[in-house]
Amino acid sequence: MEVLFLSPEVAPFSKTGGLADVAGALPAALGARGHALTVATPLHQSIDRSALRPLGKRVTVKLGAETLEGELFEAQRSAKGVRVIFIAHPLFDRPEIYGTYPDNFFRFAFFGEAALGLPGALGFAPTIVHGNDWTCGPAIWQAQERSLGHTVFTIHNLAYQGLFNASALHALGWPRSLLHHDALEFYGQLSFMKAGLVFADALTTVSPTYAQEIQGEELGCGLDGLLRKRSADLTGILNGIDDSVWDPRIDPHLAQHYGPGQLAGKADCKAALQAELRLPLDPRVPLLAMVSRFVEQKGFDLLLRVLDDSLFARAQVAILGNGDPLIQDKLLAIDRPSALAVRVAFNEGLAHRLGAGGDFFLLPSRYEPCGLSQMYAMRYGTIPVVRSTGGLADTVIDAAQPDGTGFVFESYEAEALRGAIDRALSAYEQQQLGPLQERGMARDLSWAPAAVAYEKLYQRISHTAGSAGSSG
Ligand code: ADP
Ligand code: GLC
Repeated sequence: MEVLFLSPEVAPFSKTGGLADVAGALPAALGARGHALTVATPLHQSIDRSALRPLGKRVTVKLGAETLEGELFEAQRSAKGVRVIFIAHPLFDRPEIYGTYPDNFFRFAFFGEAALGLPGALGFAPTIVHGNDWTCGPAIWQAQERSLGHTVFTIHNLAYQGLFNASALHALGWPRSLLHHDALEFYGQLSFMKAGLVFADALTTVSPTYAQEIQGEELGCGLDGLLRKRSADLTGILNGIDDSVWDPRIDPHLAQHYGPGQLAGKADCKAALQAELRLPLDPRVPLLAMVSRFVEQKGFDLLLRVLDDSLFARAQVAILGNGDPLIQDKLLAIDRPSALAVRVAFNEGLAHRLGAGGDFFLLPSRYEPCGLSQMYAMRYGTIPVVRSTGGLADTVIDAAQPDGTGFVFESYEAEALRGAIDRALSAYEQQQLGPLQERGMARDLSWAPAAVAYEKLYQRISHTAGSAGSSG
């Protein structure tokens, strides 16, 4: 099948979070199954152009009164069956991928239209147009309008909706009729997320549990009614992990390599991490690691309540992240250099080293559509401590179960997190972690099952004539 796959970020070229990892790996897993994937993404300022080659081709987009030209570049190297196409325009020549730019509606509307111009510019006819999150919503609506393939829209995080003032319609030259609650209108505003949710032939999200949760009021972000209405078209397909990037046997970021059955190198990674973070070099003290965007979603209000003397007396804690300055300042204000290291940065190498050098990996998320870090942690023999929500509930089994791989707590309360950490540290002190580590490392977390599930979905919608919203 010929698939046009749109993503605002694609690893290793651009990344703020897990969507980039998905857009870097899922197309490759589909390519390996014989499909042809064209991945469309903006050429953000941060992307290293030396890894790209100009195609000498352009796409022309009319938006409202403006005519814009996007210049096309292609990644020099990509997986079998995959080409990654970058759309260059001054609109993307900004320090941030998303930022809070007032013209974001225009930037990403342009991205969608330009991506839909690729079949014409490069000479192919997609069977499927697959968009991811709010930035790709308009492309789904436009693809339906133009009967350009069958459409799939994947929700990676329902909380980021791309809401804009309704006056944006005029600037974009889009019809007023879109400002209707059966279309893009959301409490008087224009919702790019709704463009995907309303118009796609099929909807997916990134774990079965999150697919259920977003149909309820608590995590439905005001869109649960619409999602219940589209329930028959909504599936949860669990993400996988990219073995070529996340494997402690070959990971170039690590001080030592190790793997299942040969864990000696993991102790070296812990020592190297303690040295890098200037924590006391002590192999006996358990090390709790966390790598996360600093946002409310990730459970920092709980974490901040458990970072106290009783924890620091038993463990070291290492946190890497960036984002909300309030969270950052609260973390940096805790002055315990002998037990706590906080690094404010986006640092791919350190993220890998925390995954390898930690004994435990913390994800006390309020909600988590899928979560990749807990899967990376398991692959690296680092035991996840997670809240039972979304993809965390679908990937981590509590240590109390015979097939346990981590420590899981239920209610979103500091005491519940404290309880899970306490169980984890007790197991560490009693040297009971071996079987948990082995089971986690042995888990099949590859993209292969997800690729099969997306393939089946693509086949189903391209064979169902006249399905809801289908281009027939
Ligand atoms: P989300 O997409 O909600 O941020 P995921 O667990 O799906 O959560 O993916 C997060 C990805 O971003 C992981 O690859 C993680 O290692 C990476 N990441 C998050 N914060 C940082 C950071 N500060 N530095 C490096 N990598 C980070
Ligand atoms: C989102 C979610 C995260 C998920 C990622 C990739 O950023 O917050 O849980 O793993 O998308 O699907």
